[in-house]
Amino acid sequence: MTKPVRVAVLVSGGGTNLQALLDQVHDSPIARVARVISNRPDAGALQRARRAGIPTTVLRDPSDTQELLAALGDAHLIVLAGYLKLVPGAVVSRFRGRMINIHPALLPDFGGPGMYGHRVHEAVLASGAKESGATVHFVDETFDRGAIIAQERVPVLKGDTSETLAARVLEAEHRLLPRVVLDLARSIA
Ligand code: GRF
Repeated sequence: MTKPVRVAVLVSGGGTNLQALLDQVHDSPIARVARVISNRPDAGALQRARRAGIPTTVLRDPSDTQELLAALGDAHLIVLAGYLKLVPGAVVSRFRGRMINIHPALLPDFGGPGMYGHRVHEAVLASGAKESGATVHFVDETFDRGAIIAQERVPVLKGDTSETLAARVLEAEHRLLPRVVLDLARSIA
């Protein structure tokens, strides 16, 4: 049997998507989280990684191609899970088709620079959309514009606030991201 695909996860925040990967992917024979990389030393996601015994790196300069490549090491699949920095172009081309991002809305709507966190959900609510959801897409040189791999839709309910909508979308993210990582790992193993 082939070895599990080595996955590196880039994070900036609390890391609930990382946790979903640790819970649903890490022990599978198909893929395992080999390292977790953050631009923020105080990211809660780093605590989750350390608790799981996974090596972590805090980037000094997220725009430094060599530093990021060194941190990625021999990872074969890269997952941006709440990572808020632009990945340098040279790193994007090195991992083309093997670097994915999760976004808390139905791209191509409600994405792009500055569209993160509650701003996304506030924009969805302000638009009057009846649905939102989670999108996993390949990373290219533009924020949130790479080819879409999979989406999970959730309803926008009457009386939703950005908090209630964010929580519903986040649950969808936690189902979608591990599924896509396993599918991709199977296809590139
Ligand atoms: C998620 O909504 C993700 O889609 C977005 O940032 C949030 C990160 O949450 N890119 P977490 O750090 O995984 O809890």
